[in-house]
Amino acid sequence: MSLVIGRVGELRPGETKKFLLACDGGEVEGFLLNYAGEHHAYVNRCRHVPMSLDWVENQFFTEDGRFVQCATHGAYYRPETGECVAGPPCGRTLHRIPLRIEGATIVADCPGPLPDD
Ligand code: FES
Repeated sequence: MSLVIGRVGELRPGETKKFLLACDGGEVEGFLLNYAGEHHAYVNRCRHVPMSLDWVENQFFTEDGRFVQCATHGAYYRPETGECVAGPPCGRTLHRIPLRIEGATIVADCPGPLPDD
């Protein structure tokens, strides 16, 4: 299923927004981020233990805005690729949610089957 999750220009660099996608009979929680003017979206699930990344609601970026951080054990992920670069899930990557820009809107599609991890 596709879902409009935001408008172009809605998020400034360093800002994030959560959303729910209906996929394969279930719900997938994702988050949209603006990193240096580029939008990316990922499933809100750490690749260490399958928990939400944000402890404080909608707080994903490190203080310096360079990485997405898991609040539980502090893993660092690159915002532009989802690749873990520090912490327990090192070498693993956040599940990307495909995005499309349609006019002034940002549309997300289901990420496909997610491994149980
Ligand atoms: S649950 Fe995210 S680093 Fe452990």
